Amino acid sequence: MNSSNDVSLDDCNEANWWRQAAVYQIYPRSFADANGDGLGDIKGITSRVPYLKSLSIDAVWLSPFYPSSLADGGYDVDDYRNVDPKLGTLADFDEMATALHAAGIKLVVDIVPNHSSDRHEWFKEALASPKGSAARERYIFRDGLGENGDLPPSDWDSKFGGPAWERITEPDGTPGQWYLHIFAKEQPDFNWDNPEVRDDFLKTLRFWSDRGVDGFRIDVAHALMKDLSEPLPSKTELPVEGTGVDGLVDGSHPFWDRDEVHEIYADWRKVFNEYTPPRAAVAEAWVHADRRARYASPQGLGQAFNFDLLQADFDAAQFRTIITKNLAEAAASGASSTWVFSNHDVIRHATRYGLPAGGGRHGQEWLLDGGSPAAVDAELGLRRARAASLLMFALPGSAYLYQGEELGLQEVGDIVDSERQDPAFFRNPGIEVGRDGCRVPLPWTAEGSAFGFGAGRAHLPQPEWFAGYAVDAQNNVPGSTLELYREALLYRRHLLTEEQLTWVRADDAVLHFVRPNGWQSVTNFGSGLVELPVGIVLISSGPLDGGKLPANTTAWIV
Ligand code: NOJ
Repeated sequence: MNSSNDVSLDDCNEANWWRQAAVYQIYPRSFADANGDGLGDIKGITSRVPYLKSLSIDAVWLSPFYPSSLADGGYDVDDYRNVDPKLGTLADFDEMATALHAAGIKLVVDIVPNHSSDRHEWFKEALASPKGSAARERYIFRDGLGENGDLPPSDWDSKFGGPAWERITEPDGTPGQWYLHIFAKEQPDFNWDNPEVRDDFLKTLRFWSDRGVDGFRIDVAHALMKDLSEPLPSKTELPVEGTGVDGLVDGSHPFWDRDEVHEIYADWRKVFNEYTPPRAAVAEAWVHADRRARYASPQGLGQAFNFDLLQADFDAAQFRTIITKNLAEAAASGASSTWVFSNHDVIRHATRYGLPAGGGRHGQEWLLDGGSPAAVDAELGLRRARAASLLMFALPGSAYLYQGEELGLQEVGDIVDSERQDPAFFRNPGIEVGRDGCRVPLPWTAEGSAFGFGAGRAHLPQPEWFAGYAVDAQNNVPGSTLELYREALLYRRHLLTEEQLTWVRADDAVLHFVRPNGWQSVTNFGSGLVELPVGIVLISSGPLDGGKLPANTTAWIV
């Protein structure tokens, strides 16, 4: 079968740089700490531009670096048009952008439009203003139910657990209205029916575009519009979708994936197109696959994450179905596909693939679905992660990488409760440990303070075994994960071709495809050895065995 997109490589000019870009996600607090306060910062990123360049990535995406109390790792923004003083200044940002651009690397920043932080000027003003005021209209305030209004307007749960409504104290000291927060209580949801909110975000997009930002990653892009007509349905009446999917195929959920949200992105697109090249955008939208294309349309954000591979087992049939489907979807929407295995919200894929099927994190333990203990086989996990990543780099579309995966870094499973930071942990005591395990600061050196992350103690504890994954332990070491990524991404840059793929073999054991220029990728998902096609083996994710491809390994052949 031939999955194709009509866009030819000639179209991949400057305006289309994002279509098949390798994008490296930086979680700024945990990347590199230049001032030694234990928190990664902008100058730290600038100091590592040569490292980023050595990876042959096309762009970096920065998770939020805006002023924030870090109630949700920066996804609680106090001021959308500034840099957190803990991380640097706007001048530092400009210096970083210049250094990245000089190294041929584009810059994508995160925009968090569904909610601000509770320290945002607008929210403070809303709290200080009376019920019904224009200041309250920028957020979603409602009277409580019950005689004294002391029951929340609905029984909805927030994404991080606990109620989705928080009661405020009115300026006169009396218990007052409630505001909606789909995430933590420090993240009040904006009212996107309010033109003031819309205008302010257009201003923010122009602010960063004017500073040379090349693209935007849009946080929970599918949540902005809400139908809060009363009576609000009870949570038992709210439609529930499958794993990791918010919303419904018909767009009728009161706050996830409503059709009206695309009017917002049509306005944003006009702003993106004011620039040369047009600014790019990618939607984080955990929606039903059939509705993803709406976010990715050229009249909207242009591209949308698909998290399908990230949610799949290391399984040939699942991979094949997902790849075929997503390429077809991307072709139909005019976007290119996206691929991702790891990010700051999920267990690192080198660990995930080392768990037996159905294994996951439950409280402080790795458990199987049924509750019995699950052991992580880190070596198997890494071998599969390397094979999966090499396969991903050969696929048509954009590959999104998460800092540390190029080191083969494992999830840190055993952070003590007193060190945890994720609101998902605090709102689900004893049930969820949250996402801190993939956010531990990177090890740059096997020795030295904070493994070279910075002079101070890292803000999340780094385990002793990080030494073995350090950049300097892998630099120039043949076969290391770092060198595998470097080599693969460099080859990828030279091999990129039309956004097409033809399956040569796709069964339970092997996925073998070829791109229009003859670039072949073969992955062995089975247990025996696999014969490779005739040609030159450019690179493989692990050693070959007598010229054959061992289990859990990918090779590229030209
Ligand atoms: C998605 C982000 O990736 C996640 O880290 C954050 O907690 C939520 N959106 C809320 O902003």
